[in-house]
Formats: sequence, C-alpha cells, structure tokens
Amino acid sequence: MNCKMNIKGGIRLKGTVTTQGAKNAALPILASALLLKDKTLKLRRVPNLRDIKTMADLLATLGVNVSYSGHEMILEVPSELCWETPANLVRKMRASSLVLGPLVARCGKAVMPLPGGCSIGSRPIDLHLKGLSRMGATIELDHGAVHASAKGLKGCRIYLDFPSVGATENLLMAAVFAKGETLLENVAREPEISNLISTLNLMGARIEERPTGEILVQGVDELDSASATIIPDRIEACTYLLAGVITGGEVKVTDLNINHVDALIAKLEEAGVPLSITGNSVTVHPLNKIKAVSLKTLPFPGFPTDLQPQIMATLSLADGTSIIQESVFESRFRHISELNKMGASIEVQGHTAIIKGVRELVGADVVATDLRAGASLILAGLAACDETNIFNLGHVWRGYENIDGKLRELGGEVSILPVDIIESKVNGVTPEGGD
Ligand code: EPZ
Repeated sequence: MNCKMNIKGGIRLKGTVTTQGAKNAALPILASALLLKDKTLKLRRVPNLRDIKTMADLLATLGVNVSYSGHEMILEVPSELCWETPANLVRKMRASSLVLGPLVARCGKAVMPLPGGCSIGSRPIDLHLKGLSRMGATIELDHGAVHASAKGLKGCRIYLDFPSVGATENLLMAAVFAKGETLLENVAREPEISNLISTLNLMGARIEERPTGEILVQGVDELDSASATIIPDRIEACTYLLAGVITGGEVKVTDLNINHVDALIAKLEEAGVPLSITGNSVTVHPLNKIKAVSLKTLPFPGFPTDLQPQIMATLSLADGTSIIQESVFESRFRHISELNKMGASIEVQGHTAIIKGVRELVGADVVATDLRAGASLILAGLAACDETNIFNLGHVWRGYENIDGKLRELGGEVSILPVDIIESKVNGVTPEGGD
C-alpha cells in the first residue's frame, strides 16, 4: 500500500528526541560479519530501517543467520558462505557493494552486480575495484557484474584518489586477512569508519586509524566472535535539530556524539541560532529568523553532504541570501524543484545553489527523490503554512526510524495516509520510493 506523509505546518516544535543508531555505521559493520567463520557478531543499537533490513536479507542469502529484536542484532556466520550476491538486493541498495571486500577476503571470490547510480549521482565503485586489484584480486566485468577472485590478498600501499567512504570501508575489510601490512592513504575519516574499525578490532583484527588520514592494517588469519555497539546517527540527530530551527521551536536531541556534529553546530551559531550543548545532547532554542549563511559540502570533518538538503530547506526562510556548493555528489539538487513548489526561491548554477530567503513557505504535494531530499521536504512541510503531502515515502523509511512518531512527540501534526492509485500516478510515485 503506497502512503504519503501529511503535515499540517506552522507549529513550533517543542520537546526531546533520542538519536537512533547510525545507518551508515551499521551497514558496513553488518557486512564485516562475513569475515567470521563459525562465529557470532552481536550488535546493539541497530536502527530499525529499510536499508538495514535489505542488508540483513542480503547476508541471509549468503548464508548468515540473522536475528533482530529490540535494536539488537545477532549474526551467526557458518563455515561455508555463498559468494554470489543477488541482483535485486544489490540494485535496491548501493551499500550492498560493501560485501565485496569481505567476500573476496573470506571466500577468495565474489560475484556482484554493479550497483548502478541513483538520483544523487552515478556512484561508481572504481576506487573499490582498483584497490582490490592492487591487493592481488583479479577483477572482471561481465554482463554488468563484477567477478572478483584472489588466491589470498597481499598487503600493499593504496592511495585513494578521493576519500571515498565506501572504498575506505571495503578495502580495510578486504585487508583484514591480507598477507602482511596494508597502508590505506587519503582515506575517508567519517566517524562511521572509526566505528567499523573498533568493531573489527574487537573481533581480533589489527587496524590502526591515524589522524593523518591513513589506516594501517596488519593481516591476521581469522577473527573471533564479538559484541559491539553502533554509534549515534549524526545525520538523523542534525535533521531533528534543523526541524527545531526551521519551525522556530525548542528541540533537544539526546544520545548523540557532540564531536560528530561540529560542522552543523558551527553553521547554526554563525546563523545566530541559540544553542545549549551538554555531554551528549544539543538543544536549539526559539528564534524567529536565522541569518543567511554559506557553505560547501566536504568529506568529514567538513559540512556533510547528507545534511545539504535539510539545511537548504532551513535557509530558504533565512534573512538574506545563502550559497551552498555541493562538492561531493554530482547531482544532489533534485529536492530544489520540490522546495520551490513550496514557495522557496532557489536557483541552481552548476554545483552551486543560491537560496534567497523568503517570508514563508506554503504547503504543496511534493515527491521525495532520495532519502535526504525526503527529509528536506519534511522540514519544509513542518514550517509551511497549511498542509503538505510528501510522496515516495519509501526513500524516507530507508534512513529515519519512526520519523513521523518522533515528530508527533515534538508536537508536529504529522500523519501517514494511504495513497490511491490516481494520486500515485499524478505524483509519479516510483516502486523503490513507494511503500
Ligand atoms: C556514503 O556513500 C554514505 N552511504 C552516503 O550516505 C554519503 O552521502 C557518502 O558516503 C558521502 O559521505 C553509506 O555510508 C551507506 P563515497 P558512498 O564513496 O560510500 C565518488 C545517505 O544519505 N566515488 O564517499 O557511496 C562518488 O561518486 C547516503 O545516508 C567515485 O568516484 O560515498 C561520490 O561522488 C547517501 N568512485 C563521492 O566519491 C568510487 O569508487 C563520494 O562517494 C567511490 C566513490
């Protein structure tokens, strides 16, 4: 049944929400379980999300016994694994490519359909494949699938042309059993990678993360059972802080890691937003009009691209003109046309968006084109006068656990309503975006 999110906007949100486990930490950590043999990985604070279910389904098709209850997940990995990944799951979620490194390391081979692009970019995996080749894997592309094989990977030095999160994760997992030392350079430094490294080290890997953007991996023969906890989801937490800002409300987000949200905190302070910061919580206080600010998205610790759509919605009501440069993905502006339908005044020039602050946003029927675009439209709907309907909610369920429930806890008038076939057609609801 397709659904839409109906929001009656104009209400100043007020209250406290807790942060879910980080989707982008849990996904690589789930994939890392493939490195185990007749062992078990227990995880706490695993968020209840569509992408997590997709990864769990993928691991199950490879032979892993996955059980999940109350945000705790147990992964029992047998001695023998399947190394061919099903096309339907890989194409459903690009992060499926994170099983490639562990499978080649554990089984000596892997067959995986190329994940393909999505609405924010072509999303190639050339850096992943180049790194595996450097480690001695044979990589062949055949009928749109990667065929990788290796008679044992060997440690080496790999310089990443771009600090790719996925390539860093895939290659450090592949290096766990490589013979000798692997030095990864110019790596991504997102906190989710540190969570993966600490989990692998709990399993008996020998990985050292250096502040200079290098990761050193000493190959070991096997890993052991372990228990680990997923870090808080910094992007989800910041999305709720921005929900407080855009509605001029007072929102406290708890159970987050302050060091992981510095970039947003600095921007909000620059925009004149009154903030209170304690050990593991941040509160935004009421403010009628934020100041226009400009930013460029960058790899961590720069301003995260995964918050770009959300802060753009917030700045559409700022006092003045803001400039946002998107430097990480080539086409992460598809939310702009939908925001402009709601009365925003945003112009695109290449990879730069010029956001002229307007007095108010107005409700409309709008369509989510990807996960964070959906979050951006939800924020705009919360601030808009009268009603907004957001279609293609499937994108939102990929990354935000119980977002409608959390917004209602903050006083938002948010409901999930069924969508009939006519509305689906009129609003271009796509299968992957639908419910
Ligand atoms: C991860 O994607 C995140 N996903 C993304 O979050 C996030 O936006 C992105 O990192 C950047 O922070 C997960 O962790 C599951 P990249 P990933 O490899 O690993 C280019 C969300 O909303 N590139 O760092 O795919 C690529 O095209 C999602 O939660 C190559 O050219 O990102 C892009 O322009 C969206 N060749 C840039 O690097 C490669 O081999 C960054 O990609 C790999 C990447």
